[in-house]
Amino acid sequence: MSLLLEVRDLDKRFGGLHVTRSVSFQVVAGERLALIGPNGAGKTTLVNQVSGVLRPDAGEICLQGEDVTPRSQAQRVRAGLARTFQITTLAPHFAVQRQVELALFEREGLTGRAWRSIDAYPALQAEALALLERLGLRSQAGVATQDLAYGEQRLVEMALALALRPKVLLLDEPMAGVPKGDGARLLDALDSLPRDLGVLIIEHDMDLVFRFATRILVLADGAVLADGTPDEIRSDPKVRAAYLGN
Ligand SMILES: Nc1ncnc2c1ncn2[C@@H]1O[C@H](COP(=O)(O)OP(=O)(O)O)[C@@H](O)[C@H]1O
Ligand SMILES: [Mg+2]
Repeated sequence: MSLLLEVRDLDKRFGGLHVTRSVSFQVVAGERLALIGPNGAGKTTLVNQVSGVLRPDAGEICLQGEDVTPRSQAQRVRAGLARTFQITTLAPHFAVQRQVELALFEREGLTGRAWRSIDAYPALQAEALALLERLGLRSQAGVATQDLAYGEQRLVEMALALALRPKVLLLDEPMAGVPKGDGARLLDALDSLPRDLGVLIIEHDMDLVFRFATRILVLADGAVLADGTPDEIRSDPKVRAAYLGN
């Protein structure tokens, strides 16, 4: 299995608060790694260091063998690391298909060209539609993203991240705020992600975690408490005591 993401001895303090304590883990191709742990365990802080939002105080983040620790968020995206971002900060009046086409244009370095030229790129149009199909959004291609249900907007965010053809996808609580009724569509979308993509997901919904993850990393007080298969994590006494309860 090819190693996509390697995090080594990451360390981060906020003043006197030690929030990431020598954290190491790996993501190989095709892996679905769930990051779990109680509130305040340092999950978001850890993922922010991986994506480049925050600089670690020590340690390295390697993407396909390249040390990207000094690299900006944009450089990491170009190196194959994508995270979902809030659709509401983009152009909410744009139709779903246009949003995805814009992301594809960006990827291809065509953004500076005249916008009329989208029709001149049938391959990109087809790719946009294929992405929407994959995520179950095909019938909403012409709908403005601001008119979509919240759960559907999360799917568009996923489409935009996938449009960049990442090797590793970071998902920070994709189910947060999504009504129960829309959960199944999101699960279907997660199941339809490209097989060889590496996925790092933070999620509180343990049903989703244990259904989706191939490996689970448990964080507690900023340090790795356990790292193993869902079965190993489920039966780990340390994890049960610290987090999962009985
Ligand atoms: N920018 C910040 N400045 C100071 N403390 C922070 C900052 N961000 C997070 N923290 C603290 O770091 C700890 C870990 O937070 P966080 O990474 O958000 O945990 P989680 O995502 O697991 O709930 C918490 O104690 C939080 O209060
Ligand atoms: Mg968090």
